[in-house]
Amino acid sequence: MLFGNLLDVGRDQLGFLLNCARTYGDRVELRFGRRRIVVFNHPADVEEVLVTQQRNFIKGYFYRILGPLLGNGLLTSEGEFWLRQRRLSQPAFHRERIAAYARTMRSYTQELLGSWSDGMVRDVNDDMMQLTLRIVGKTLFDADFQSEATEVGQALPAALHELSAQMIGPEFILPSSIPTPSRARLRRAISRLDPLVLRMIAQRRAAGDDRGDLLSALLRVRDADGSRMTDRQLRDEAMTIVLAGHETTALALTWAFYLLGRHPAANNQLVAELESVLNGRAPGPEDMSQLPYTASVLSETMRLYPPIFGIGRESVADCEINGFRLPAGTNVYLVPYVIQRNPRWFDDPLSFRPERWLDGLEGRLPRFAYFPFGGGPRLCIGQPFALLESTIILSSIMQQWHLRPISDQPVEMAPALTLRPKHGIRFQLERQ
Ligand code: HEM
Repeated sequence: MLFGNLLDVGRDQLGFLLNCARTYGDRVELRFGRRRIVVFNHPADVEEVLVTQQRNFIKGYFYRILGPLLGNGLLTSEGEFWLRQRRLSQPAFHRERIAAYARTMRSYTQELLGSWSDGMVRDVNDDMMQLTLRIVGKTLFDADFQSEATEVGQALPAALHELSAQMIGPEFILPSSIPTPSRARLRRAISRLDPLVLRMIAQRRAAGDDRGDLLSALLRVRDADGSRMTDRQLRDEAMTIVLAGHETTALALTWAFYLLGRHPAANNQLVAELESVLNGRAPGPEDMSQLPYTASVLSETMRLYPPIFGIGRESVADCEINGFRLPAGTNVYLVPYVIQRNPRWFDDPLSFRPERWLDGLEGRLPRFAYFPFGGGPRLCIGQPFALLESTIILSSIMQQWHLRPISDQPVEMAPALTLRPKHGIRFQLERQ
């Protein structure tokens, strides 16, 4: 078989993976071309890969496709180099710093809402993508991506589109030296983005001031020999954070609006909580613990629609995962989308029931029955950022607007790099 299971995956990746888990159970072996992939569907096996035996795994094969866009940034780098970069970036993601970003999150959300009017029809996925892109640009790089909106706004989605297509296209198994039309389009998109990012870095180097953001921290870094991070490395880190830091959060919000639109009782309960706790004001970090139902809506959304629906790794040593032998060089795939829909861990798993999270469910679950942010040393660095940002955006919008779905048909998913709605999601706006 030339393509093996690649064709099944190309047709209906998530349906195929769910079906495999139902039919074959906790461990499923697939073939992509000549490549063998083991899918682990049990939380205990996921824990071995991401935590206990993480030293036996690298990101590897699944992440190579991101190389042309992200280079050697935090998401894709490995080993000692990754650890150094992670330590350098961490302060920009500490809770106190993130709390300081809340103001930008609130004001940019209000700016977006200022452009909404009663009766308007909006593709909320587009709105969320632009909003989270602006927020990540301002908070972490002190850059206003709106002023460069046309270039970033066109070239970044174009690059994402090509990467997504390549995840399920022939590029996934073709050596990177073989040119394809999608690879050429990706190169063109990158050549539009690179000058913008490099200009941002050059301007900041020239200004020489410390603005307390991620870019300042990265610019300050010196190696033991006194050398600084190269422009190329800064470019890779910046591109990574911009990419990893906006689409995921935008998708969590988009799916939340979609699910709330289909579940009026949950929608009403959310609005009631927001009214009683916030009484019309936008929330801040201090309100997070007072909004349990809002948090549950976001948790339940990411259970059913995890923005990163699958996490890949490659073994670099022979190892044994709870008795299952895994030779070096095997690709493994861990799929939150499948595990988080398993009736063994979640009652009535396909139903949207935010209240399931209200009585301490997370503490009773095996650690990796729910892992939308991954786990172990490569846990998402932006998790607290994303949770604050999505709470601020969701609660600001839901206090002012009712988002009425245009269609009652289920939205088709387009799983590629991330779990997107295939054709966006349109809502009619009604002022609350
Ligand atoms: C709801 C929103 C988000 C979700 C669901 C999410 C999910 C994830 C997941 C699953 C990983 C681990 C990937 C792996 O182990 O292979 C990850 C890593 C990462 N995320 Fe997020 N993420 C979100 C928001 C953010 C934000 C807001 C930022 C930055 C502002 C960010 C930056 C990163 C970075 C840099 C990594 C790589 C970390 C490392 O390997 O050291 N993410 N994310």
